[in-house]
Amino acid sequence: MNAAVQRADDDILVVRGLDKVYPGGFQALKPTDLEIRRGEIFALLGPNGAGKTTLISIICGIVNLGAGSITVDGHDVVRDWRATRSLIGLVPQELKTDAFETVWNTVRFSRGLFGKAPDDAYIERLLKELSLWDKRDNKMLMLSGGMKRRVMIAKALSHEPQLLFLDEPTAGVDVELRRDMWAMVRRLRESGVTIVLTTHYIEEAEEMADRVGVINRGELIVVEEKAALMHKLGRKQLRLQLHDPLDAVPGALAAHHLELAAGGNELVYNYDTQGERTGITTLLADLAATGIRFRDLSTRQDTLEQIFLQLVKESAA
Ligand SMILES: Nc1ncnc2c1ncn2[C@@H]1O[C@H](COP(=O)(O)OP(=O)(O)OP(=O)(O)O)[C@@H](O)[C@H]1O
Ligand SMILES: [Mg+2]
Repeated sequence: MNAAVQRADDDILVVRGLDKVYPGGFQALKPTDLEIRRGEIFALLGPNGAGKTTLISIICGIVNLGAGSITVDGHDVVRDWRATRSLIGLVPQELKTDAFETVWNTVRFSRGLFGKAPDDAYIERLLKELSLWDKRDNKMLMLSGGMKRRVMIAKALSHEPQLLFLDEPTAGVDVELRRDMWAMVRRLRESGVTIVLTTHYIEEAEEMADRVGVINRGELIVVEEKAALMHKLGRKQLRLQLHDPLDAVPGALAAHHLELAAGGNELVYNYDTQGERTGITTLLADLAATGIRFRDLSTRQDTLEQIFLQLVKESAA
């Protein structure tokens, strides 16, 4: 999908001027605007206490809206809450379940709460997909933490929502389940569901997200296509493995601000992917002129995690 040709009605969620002051006077969210595009996977990143859960809870109608407006598929979440609730599925960060209810009843009952006609074949598919089918008759208290989280996902999907919020879906789940979860989220997206997730595993966002939002101290500091963000803010590094070690960077190369690494065996050049020119051509020409030979070279780009940490540091400063 080309971002440039996206029309506004391709937004499934529109948040305008939302802010939130909790009773007691704490401002958890500064005025916030956000659009979520239909069919995307959007990752909301931010340190503990940044306001991620608050934002999601307000959209889902669990926490009262302070100021501003929110629409889901054109419906106002306050005036038209019944419609918006049924369009939304939420897997909350804090797992709350009825300990004595079975997996099957928990999920089936949840569908009923949204006024959807029973569809046991759909619930069966859901439980099978989440590897919960052989646990269907177990009471919730008999499940492990990771299994409970999967039941919460099944619950959130029980009424076939169009917009799914996953608030730290993979906190405390094992590597295998995390992979399964990613695969499931992708399948959901392919079936047309829009997904907003929060995570502290930044590599999860790097792997999954189409767009990324970074929130810090109640302020949405960046919303950007993941690829563009990595391209724009990611610094790159060129490392040259030298044929013969150096004691110091030769004065003739001073303009390139090189660093010497690996005991004088490597020259490191940091450059900006965003800049007009990388400076690599001149660097290589200058190296040749100085008679420095290298046996190999490699480049490395910042991960999303490094970019995220940098953004949060800058916004705190
Ligand atoms: N009911 C409440 N009353 C007062 N303050 C609250 C309430 N709920 C949350 N807060 C505060 O609002 C801020 C944002 O909390 P929130 O739960 O949205 O953060 P978060 O980004 O989800 O963090 P985490 O990554 O730890 O889940 C925190 O400072 C928190 O203490
Ligand atoms: Mg949270």
